[in-house]
Amino acid sequence: TTGSLKTREKMQHICNLIQENLPTYNWVGFYMAHETEPTLHLWSQAGEPTDHTVIPFGKGICGQVAVSNKNFVVDDVKAQDNYIACSIHVKSEIVVPLFKNGKNIGQIDIDSNTIKAFNEEDERFLEWVNEQVATIL
Ligand code: SME
Repeated sequence: TTGSLKTREKMQHICNLIQENLPTYNWVGFYMAHETEPTLHLWSQAGEPTDHTVIPFGKGICGQVAVSNKNFVVDDVKAQDNYIACSIHVKSEIVVPLFKNGKNIGQIDIDSNTIKAFNEEDERFLEWVNEQVATIL
């Protein structure tokens, strides 16, 4: 498992803060990579509960980021073939990898009910959030 209960509580608090303060950030969560298996595991989240608590590497937007190590901004989720729908209300998504000592160990995932909700400013903000989180992991 990734880190202590205290770490998980802090990451939960970060999800809550972001989701409550940014109106177009309707769902905010951290998925963390399993230490030995090629799967992502939902670690903390704010917003509607999701059934997708485990995502194999390569599957969906999240799984693709686990492999590519790159930000993935989706303006319109309907245009994506390799996409895992968590809610019918979601229209756009951003996933930013979380690096610890240069290793992609997880990601922050944001869903929006607004189309094309995310731009470069969101990428920089979420990269900064992940850098802060990496210091407590
Ligand atoms: N849409 C994601 C799955 C996670 S839910 O958005 C919370 C994907 O395609 O990987």
